[in-house]
Amino acid sequence: MTFDLFDPLPPDADVPASEPLGPGAVVLRAFAREVAPSLLAAVGEVSASSPFRHLVTPGGLRMSVAMTNCGERGWVSDRTGYRYDALDPESGRPWPVMPTSFLDLAVRAADAAGYPAFAPDACLINRYLPGTRLSLHQDRDELDLRAPIVSVSLGLPAVFLWGGLRRADRPARVRLAHGDVVVWGGPSRLVFHGIAPLAAGDHPLTGRERINLTFRKTR
Ligand code: SIN
Ligand code: FE2
Repeated sequence: MTFDLFDPLPPDADVPASEPLGPGAVVLRAFAREVAPSLLAAVGEVSASSPFRHLVTPGGLRMSVAMTNCGERGWVSDRTGYRYDALDPESGRPWPVMPTSFLDLAVRAADAAGYPAFAPDACLINRYLPGTRLSLHQDRDELDLRAPIVSVSLGLPAVFLWGGLRRADRPARVRLAHGDVVVWGGPSRLVFHGIAPLAAGDHPLTGRERINLTFRKTR
């Protein structure tokens, strides 16, 4: 790569801070990088009361992603289907309260993406280890589809699969690094998406893990 010494912009200035993915969908590069250490500390607190677990799909398959939740309601899957539940089925107790740092970041990211006054009542926390994948799916268990999804990537980088409104649409492959935030809503709210098998690596803040937070307004 050649680099003009007199160019006032830093070498990575060609990477825009905000990359459109589609109508109503955007990647906010590094948006969460500064607050990442406090987000990760809060993930540790949430998972101390509601530990990560591998849910079973209605079809009986154990998911390779480990999950927990915080907020008024949490996303769960079992042999009877998918749902949002006010109680952690493992403890029978409410999910941990959504940390202020989570809510603050989610609201700011939604606003930056053009969705003012986002009011998420649920945060699903996904944990990926090398080899973990999340197959193409739609986020469609929420009653209010006017609100966007806000998705925060922490730790090891991943390849986000960004498809279309039909399952068969061939997905684009978008690299998501530590601190990147994806927001999708409006005409893209029901786009199929997923995560390709995580590559091995070692991140200074998370070691061999990738953590993803997805914020939803469920009703
Ligand atoms: C999800 O679709 O719930 C998670 C996406 C991600 O891990 O980036
Ligand atoms: Fe999803």
